[in-house]
Amino acid sequence: MKAIARTLAALALLLAPIAVCADDAGRRTPDPVLEAKIADLLSRMSLEEKVGQMFLGGWSPEFDMREVDDGSLGILSNMDEAATTAKIRDRAHGVRHGIPLLFSRDLIHGYRTLFPMPLGIAATFDAEAMFTAGLHTAKEGSAQGLSLNLGPMLDLSRDARWGRVVEGPGEDPHLAKVFAGAMVRGLSAGGMAATLKHFVGYGAAESGRDYNAVDLSESRLRDLYLPPFKAGIEAGAQVVMAAFNTLNGVPGTGNPHTLIDILRRDWGFDGIVMSDWDAVRELIAHGVAADEREAVEKAVMAGVDMDMASGLYRQHLVSLVRDGRLPLARIDEAASRVLRVKFRLGLFDEAEKARRIDMKAAAAALATPETREAARDVARRSVVMLKNEGAILPLAPAPKRVAVIGAMAADAGDHMGAWGALGRRDEVPLLVDELRTRLGATGTKVEFAAGCDDACRSTEGFAAAEKVAKAADLIVAVLGEPWWMTAESTSRTRLGLPNHQQALLDRLAATGRPVVLVVFAGRPMVLRDAAPKVKAILWAYSPGTMGGAALADILLGEANPSGRLPMSMPRAVGQVPISYDRLPTGRPWKPGDELATRYVDEEITPLFPFGFGLSYTRFTTTAPKPARATLRLGETLEVVTTVTNTGARRGRESVQLYVHDVLASRSRPRRELKAFAMVDLAPGESREVRLAVPVGDLGFHDDLGRYRVEPGRFEIFVGSDSDTENRTAVEVVE
Ligand code: BGC
Repeated sequence: MKAIARTLAALALLLAPIAVCADDAGRRTPDPVLEAKIADLLSRMSLEEKVGQMFLGGWSPEFDMREVDDGSLGILSNMDEAATTAKIRDRAHGVRHGIPLLFSRDLIHGYRTLFPMPLGIAATFDAEAMFTAGLHTAKEGSAQGLSLNLGPMLDLSRDARWGRVVEGPGEDPHLAKVFAGAMVRGLSAGGMAATLKHFVGYGAAESGRDYNAVDLSESRLRDLYLPPFKAGIEAGAQVVMAAFNTLNGVPGTGNPHTLIDILRRDWGFDGIVMSDWDAVRELIAHGVAADEREAVEKAVMAGVDMDMASGLYRQHLVSLVRDGRLPLARIDEAASRVLRVKFRLGLFDEAEKARRIDMKAAAAALATPETREAARDVARRSVVMLKNEGAILPLAPAPKRVAVIGAMAADAGDHMGAWGALGRRDEVPLLVDELRTRLGATGTKVEFAAGCDDACRSTEGFAAAEKVAKAADLIVAVLGEPWWMTAESTSRTRLGLPNHQQALLDRLAATGRPVVLVVFAGRPMVLRDAAPKVKAILWAYSPGTMGGAALADILLGEANPSGRLPMSMPRAVGQVPISYDRLPTGRPWKPGDELATRYVDEEITPLFPFGFGLSYTRFTTTAPKPARATLRLGETLEVVTTVTNTGARRGRESVQLYVHDVLASRSRPRRELKAFAMVDLAPGESREVRLAVPVGDLGFHDDLGRYRVEPGRFEIFVGSDSDTENRTAVEVVE
């Protein structure tokens, strides 16, 4: 009985007319003309055709054109060459109703020209760089006929064991919100729509094991995990992908709470909800559906409009409706959503339908000098310098002989990173070649030795590498995680340098030559053993097609690092999940206090905090001054500080504002990032930086999902990372 009542309530919500007014949650005003067009088209479609719109298929060389002819596809993904897309696209326009196909692909950090992996893009702490990455990704993709990206991934991640941390914006909801908005707008400006994924909580997989269960309180879900998605929708995203994982026991592909209550009811989302790959079928493995038909029922009735890849909607929906197990109205609603997005993207426009994909233009749009330069610029901004003892970097002037050690310095795949889309190895300037050529031009000899393969599974090459290292004045060691050790289904239990890499680094350090460590990696790693052995550390993620050139720019001092850590870098794997916004506990950590919250064998703090990153120059930031010390709800907190470049080089400083709600009805984090800005300053230059935070952003949710800002004192911290002590305070009054 309860189940029936729940189904009816869900159905009422699913079928409720779309809200009529726009509001500050970014709900769209329904367009009566558009809705009439959708209704008209729908009235002429058969049930089979409607169900066809609810399927996302994956293209492969075996693709059968009959799928297009009988209208049994809504989206076709994994497209590669423009010629294929062009052929299928034209064919679709010729079939009954001429409903255009939506062509999509996972462009996680680029199409042909790869930007750094998303975690690196987030590390720029620069909305403009994030926008640029989205823009150029979509420019390349849309020229090939693609109109939908299966990204950005907005899963918050605090557990570096989870391999997918590299695909997202890191640990902080505010950074993730900025990332979401900038990526969605950038993609859209480049001609592609975004899919926000994975809804929701996927990044909190227990023990960092991919696809594992997630357990989150309602307040945590709403305070941390949902805001990036809301920001993406407010920026115009019209497609959301449900997550593989269970959230509090309910799979993302069949979760009416997240997909109906929150997404549709609270946020008024009127676009498409798609499943993840084969995830409708996975409801059986989750143990919540007895068979395929029940899996389909559950997914559809929980609000999943589109089945990605499993084919189960196509197989069972028609008969489920005919047998009276599913209401036709729900199919109409789901198909309407697909059509609505297609109309909004302009795919039905006569001019768009008549347009042929121009093969010459498609080819000319790839790897343009402008896009390559943009990828190089974003890569430069993404690099985080974690250590620079004795200002050993930049290498200007460079020593006479430099040894470059590590297979990844010479491997295009490791520069490009996972989700390489159509990236081409021959378009990647390798770090070793860049150093050889550019240092060679000034008389420095660069010698290279791999030492071992990219994952360092054997020590056979160590002696040869040691010989090269000994003959040099300085060693650049390029270590970390090969591209295939990152992204989906690559959880790790150890977070140190993989296999024998630490031993290789130890051998290099033992030569007595100074070592500069460049880390390619998909996640924060434990550098406790590595850091003391080296003079400098550059954190480069997978830096993308132009990453080798960008890293050389930084090593040689032609660019100044300004990237910031989007995730705390742990000291030990036992600290994860770790994030800067921890609660104080009843026994706040104090050095030396044995009964405070602590580990007996390790500090509780990370090795490098969230937001941290060094520069070749130095900056000072004055004490933050609030424009007003007392604020009311509805007002905006404004804080001013002056940043000065006190060093000798031009550089960019990240100014980060954190708040701490001192006394509240729930324990509040020691710091929460609420605003940040990047300032570019010449030596000696000062700039006044004004950061603004709506007072409405200072609140939190309770366990019933209710949000409120509680009056009282808020400490405000402004500085260059999450540990800054540079502070002031304001009072929020009723
Ligand atoms: C991933 C998604 C991706 C999809 C399609 C899945 O395995 O989880 O992020 O969009 O595959 O490639």
